[in-house]
Order: sequence, then C-alpha cells, then structure tokens
Amino acid sequence: MTVEKAWGGRFREPAAAEAEAFTASLPFDRRLWPEDLAGSRAHVRMLAAQGILGREEADQLLRGLDAVEAEIRADRFPWRREDEDIHMAVERRLAELLGPVAGKLHTARSRNDQVALDTHLWARAAAGRLAGRVAALQAALLEVAERAPEAVMPGYTHLQHAQPVLWAHHWLAFFFMFQRDRERFLRAGEAADRMPLGAGALAGTPFPVDPARVAAELGFSRLYENSMDAVSDRDYLAELLFACALTAAHLSRLGETLVLWTSREFAFVELADAYATGSSIMPQKKNPDVAELVRGKAGRVYGDLMALLTVLKGLPLAYASDLQEDKEASFDAVETLDRSLSALSGALRTLRVDAGRLARATEGDYSTATELADHLAARGLPFREAHRVAGRIVADCLEAGRPLEALDLEELRRYSPLFEAEVLEALRPAASAARRRSPGGTAPERVREQLELARRLLEGAVADA
Ligand code: ARG
Repeated sequence: MTVEKAWGGRFREPAAAEAEAFTASLPFDRRLWPEDLAGSRAHVRMLAAQGILGREEADQLLRGLDAVEAEIRADRFPWRREDEDIHMAVERRLAELLGPVAGKLHTARSRNDQVALDTHLWARAAAGRLAGRVAALQAALLEVAERAPEAVMPGYTHLQHAQPVLWAHHWLAFFFMFQRDRERFLRAGEAADRMPLGAGALAGTPFPVDPARVAAELGFSRLYENSMDAVSDRDYLAELLFACALTAAHLSRLGETLVLWTSREFAFVELADAYATGSSIMPQKKNPDVAELVRGKAGRVYGDLMALLTVLKGLPLAYASDLQEDKEASFDAVETLDRSLSALSGALRTLRVDAGRLARATEGDYSTATELADHLAARGLPFREAHRVAGRIVADCLEAGRPLEALDLEELRRYSPLFEAEVLEALRPAASAARRRSPGGTAPERVREQLELARRLLEGAVADA
C-alpha cells in the first residue's frame, strides 16, 4: 500500500522502495514509542496552555494519543515501514483515528526537536536503569567477598604471586571500581537532563511556546540555551555510551578473573552448573561461557561508542540525517551492558569458593619476601639495600628448593645482623597481610572498614534497581 507522506506536498514522484527502506528508522526507533507519546502529550498540553491550540482540540489529541498507546500495548498498532520513523507512524495513525485535527499535533514542533526530546528521555531512563544494574552487581560482589572474608590468597601483579591479600580485599577492589561506574551512570543521567523541545527544526518557532512547562511536566531540570545546539548534538548519548564502555572494560576484567580462577591451575572458585556450559565433545568440560562472553562483549560496546563519536565528527550544524545513526549504537550498547551486568551478577551470586585452595596457593610461594626487605628498612637500612639482601635470600632459597618459611633467625642473620626474631612471624602469609594496615590496605581491620563502607554505599541503591 502506498501511504501519502506527511511531507508529500512538494513531491511529484513516489519514493523508491530502496530509498524508503534505506532512510527508514522505524524498524529500530519503534521502541521509542513511550518517550514519543510522553513528549507529544506534554507538547499538546503546553500548546493548549499557551492558547496555541483550543482546549477541545487538545483533548481530542490527548485521547487520540491514548488510543495509539492502547493499540501499541495490545500489539494491534498497524506498523508500516513507509512511515519512516516512530514520529511519523504515531502521527499517521492519529490522523486515521481523529481526522484532520491530528495534523495540529505537530504545530510549533519539528521531528528534529522531537527526536532529540525522545532520546533525552530514553537516555535518562537508561542511565538510571544501568546504575541500578551496577548496584545489583555490587551487591553480588559484596556477597562473594563475605563468603570467606579473611581467607588469605595470593595477590598478583603481572599475574605473578606478589603479596598475600585477603579474599574480600580482592573482591572489594571490583566493588569500588563499579561504584565509580555507578556514579558515572548517574552523571550520564544528568547529562541527559536538558529539554530540547521548542527548538523547532533549528531556529526556534514563531509560536509563543513555553519549553519550561514541557520540561517541568517531563521532569527535566534544564533547557537548552540555543535551538541549533538543541537539535544537533548527541553528547548526552556519547556520555552514556562512554559510561557503558568503561563499565564493559571493568566487567571484562571481572570476567577474565572468573575465567582464570575457574581453570584447573587456579581452581579458587567453581561456577554453579546453572551459570556454566558444557562441551559437545569433551564430557569433562565445564566452561565459563558467561564470563567469556562478558569479556568479549566489551569490544562490541567500544564499537558502539566509536560509531557514535564518528557520526558526530565533522557534522555541520544543525540537524543532519547522520544523527539518525545515533540510535542503533546507543540501544545496542545499553542492551548489551544491561544483559552482561545481569548475567555476571547471577554467576557471582552462585559462585562457590574453595578456601582450602586459596590457603594452599600462598604456601611456599615467596610472596612474603617483601617482609624481609621491610624488616631491614624499618631498622634503618636504606630500602634499596634491604631489597638486595632480601633478593639474595630468595635466590638462595630458590636454588635450594626451600620456602622462606623454612628459614630460621640464625640463617637470616648471616645475611644481615639487623634481623630480629619477629621477622619469622611476618613471613607467614596471614601475618604479612595483617601488617598492611595503611588506608585501603589488606589488613583485616582495613578490609572490615571497606566492607562496612561498601554496605553503606549500597543502602537503598539495590532496592531502586
Ligand atoms: N528519524 C529521525 C532521526 O532519528 C528523526 C528526525 C528526522 N528529521 C528529519 N528532518 N529527517 O533522527
């Protein structure tokens, strides 16, 4: 069926099917119908309040918009690709339902400010939803941390045993990383908190509109200062996608941790069957697919951010159709991250810890060698020299195949007369961890403070999710 285009007046020929299909955004912007209807309702009420539309006309339009919403919700809405986008689809249907009065809806408005409003509403809600999802992941991280809070395990740098740390300390590192992500999503929500309607196509409108009223109805706290800016930037989407990209980076590190730690070499944790997958050929396999895919999807989210930034680059003012390319990237990034956050939260909530494996991992691993150097440095030897002495002790032990724990005081004194008996105690991994009482350190009392703070940061946040 050929549908007359809303803009058809100026045209003598119908659109080529190919051009129509190529320019249409309806297949992907359909999902913006709740935002589009909310924006149209606020617009109609403002037009009526300003005397631009009659009361009766406004009421008709509002009833028509309700009818459109009912059809969409009931899956009875006649979607047609020729409608181009969600804005035209709603307007076309409104005309079928109401007749000519429907044509008044678009008074003092352009699709350029309309779509900007829709995407601001969408971005604001998406940012809030993702902040909630991050909070849920943090709650899962906290649960894991509390499963064996004071168990000692190797802390790694360069993925080599570095110094002993507490189990909870490791997981809290992720917790606070995601705390910043959550705050970033809240800031992305603020970036979207600016109302563009009233900008018209680009230059404003001769009608006596009241954007502040529209903003108040839709819960926006600010307006755009410049109508050309209002219709031509998508910085609020870029900020949201950056928050997604960085969260995806953090998630990929968490995913990698699970991939490593579920391997036979580490075996610190085991995934619940419900969050693992098998192999079609090797019966013994239990694969961490969820964690791997979360790791892999970071690339896709980065791609979405890059796509959006590239669309914006070099674009002349004001609106151009390039901006229609903002949507698929934004929807994909948000959806991908949303699902990644959920799946990984589930995997964490059901994760089992092998505390015995953790304890054995620091046995004879030389990860307390820093204690030897610190001990000497605390007794006046310059740290660099102390480090050399400790290095020689480690080298000799390695050669003899002996762990540091096997050393006695007499032997140590052969390397330096400064060694005192208490150094032997410090060579135990748990004692070494307990000595790291600096702020944010791994000593049990510092980790308890971090756990306490983490619990407080989550109060209220998860319930909102
Ligand atoms: N579908 C368009 C978009 O997503 C809506 C705005 C279109 N405006 C225009 N003049 N073609 O950006």
